[in-house]
Amino acid sequence: MFYRPLRTILVGFVFLCAAASAFAQTQASLVAARRSLMPVPANVNWREGRLPVGKNFSFRFVGQTDERTRQYASRVMRRLEGRTLFEFVREASTSPNPTLLIETATTGTAIPKLGDDESYTLDIGSTQIKLTAPNSVGAMRGLETLLQLLEGDANGFYFPAVSISDKPRFQWRGLMIDSARHFQPVEVIKRTLDGMASVKLNVLHWHLTEDQGFRVETKKFPELHLQGSDGLFYTQAEIRDIIRYAADRGIRVMPEFDMPGHATAWLVSHPEIGSAPGPYTIERRPGIFDPTLDPTNEKTYKLLEPFFAEMAALFPDAYMHIGGDENEGKQWNANANIQAFMKKNGIKDNHELQTYFNKRILKFLQKNNKIMMGWDEIFQPDLPKDVVIHSWRGQKALADAAKQGFQGVLSNGYYIDLSFPASQHYVVDPLPADTTLSAEEQKRVLGGEATMWAEWVSPETIDSRVWPRTAAIAERLWSSREVNDIDDMYRRLDVVSIRLEELGLAHIRNQKMLLRRLTMGKDTTALEVLVTLIEPVKEYKRYQVRPQTMLSPLTGLIDAAQPDAPSARKFNRTVERLLAGGNRAELLGGLRSMVEGWQTHENQLAEVIANSPALAEARQLPDDLRALNRIALEAIFSLTNGSSRTADWRTARIAELDAIAKPKAAVEFAHIAGIRKLVDSAAGVRAQ
Ligand code: ACM
Repeated sequence: MFYRPLRTILVGFVFLCAAASAFAQTQASLVAARRSLMPVPANVNWREGRLPVGKNFSFRFVGQTDERTRQYASRVMRRLEGRTLFEFVREASTSPNPTLLIETATTGTAIPKLGDDESYTLDIGSTQIKLTAPNSVGAMRGLETLLQLLEGDANGFYFPAVSISDKPRFQWRGLMIDSARHFQPVEVIKRTLDGMASVKLNVLHWHLTEDQGFRVETKKFPELHLQGSDGLFYTQAEIRDIIRYAADRGIRVMPEFDMPGHATAWLVSHPEIGSAPGPYTIERRPGIFDPTLDPTNEKTYKLLEPFFAEMAALFPDAYMHIGGDENEGKQWNANANIQAFMKKNGIKDNHELQTYFNKRILKFLQKNNKIMMGWDEIFQPDLPKDVVIHSWRGQKALADAAKQGFQGVLSNGYYIDLSFPASQHYVVDPLPADTTLSAEEQKRVLGGEATMWAEWVSPETIDSRVWPRTAAIAERLWSSREVNDIDDMYRRLDVVSIRLEELGLAHIRNQKMLLRRLTMGKDTTALEVLVTLIEPVKEYKRYQVRPQTMLSPLTGLIDAAQPDAPSARKFNRTVERLLAGGNRAELLGGLRSMVEGWQTHENQLAEVIANSPALAEARQLPDDLRALNRIALEAIFSLTNGSSRTADWRTARIAELDAIAKPKAAVEFAHIAGIRKLVDSAAGVRAQ
């Protein structure tokens, strides 16, 4: 099966060109300028001095505050306590000199809206911190910055003295969670919201209906969720709870009901509104499927009108996403009634028919004061200008829409389900420096969203697919375009990743848990080394090399493997620096000790994989790693000795690397790229 051809072909990425030579000069100053802040604030002025953090740390509000900001501050204090082990005085309502003074002019709206002022200023002196914001959400953003500023050394914990004034570059900074393909329980959504708030994201786009599941309770049509979800859906009480939880963190919740395609789950209980007779069952495979709502049947609208009215009352956000993607129209082409309807009404193709459908839906949304959003495919110049175009197919769609007066949000380049490294997402800018849009058109680009499509994520693995990479995307959407140094991003991301753990996110700890299960409790030391070198296969290759369904266990080696394998990243980066003319002895020595470190685990790796039936698919990996270590060392030794390798040696090694590069167990060694460059260099071939 040709899986998701459109997404595979069209999701393009700008590839990173590392500016290695500028590295040495910029690195030291960046470290000083940015410490561990992510996203980097708009204006930062470091000052001399520090504010020590001790058990007398206290805070007080001035101006207008609401309960949610008090609770937010209280949680922030709890996180500070968790790091410092102090039990603080907490709110010093009567103290004239609290350590942290939070001054908010107004409370702002209880439910966040697009365009809310999220600015704040933060002043840290040697005895007091002053956080000023126009409203509660600004205060929340500032409190997260404060948490990121905590440092510690031999003299204890402290905040560096600094003046920060900050506001976001883009007003729409989202994360899409697909709860339809794999259901994610309420606690997963909540911890995701906590992670989002910590990096200042402000929209949860919630993909709730799909071929593989209908995940929202409807009181008007309970058969939809009861028959379309295997019992895995969110009750309306749970949805209200999540909306509240998000609002308390300054995050909007926008639902998506994907139609007219991606609609199998609707048709399980309502085959009469499908474009082919049915019957329909919940789809278990990944991909693009034929079942499509019938836009020519009035019964479709009789169901959708009250459905949207019910959802509009449940979700307070002004925006509602109707999907609209990947409708291939096969059922429309094959249905004589639909063809007759098109002829009679002068509808010349399927795109026009979808537009007819969208306009009928638009009326339902407008009646309920909702603004329509949809994927690129809904775009049609005569739609009302407040419709938001969500671009997944390319930045051009966003620019074209902006030129025609439409607002847009970018997701092309932010597909975190594809297992690409953070660096690749980080360089994608919704408004690149060379944009051809006028100032007026640029304002229509509202921002972007990372998309967590959930074909292959379970509650155990979703955190590692979202985090920490989404923090890099959050920075792209908040910070200025000039904040774009990849090495410095990774330096800060490593710190952010650990801090995300205090929110209950399991992106780090679940890896070991998965490895323990795979080995049934054997020593996982060697496997832990292996997973610092391997990554899941990229794009949509997973299904091709290891076909599974929505019912398959997501507990294999590929599920334990993560994007941005850290040792591979370090190795590849060291090779780049070497080839860019860095300190040869030091860099070659570093590479050698990395490889020799991996060698010490070769035997244990072979043994643990051979004796773990759940790792049978990975039997080749120990031999592959052994060969990679050997080839890397051969190259490193000749580069160290200055003795060039022959062309035949290179040909043989490249052939070996090509064989090893073929994925096994749907994982790939991510440092092969670096080893190839070493082999080329050792044979006197200039690296590409
Ligand atoms: C999409 O990826 N089909 C929006």
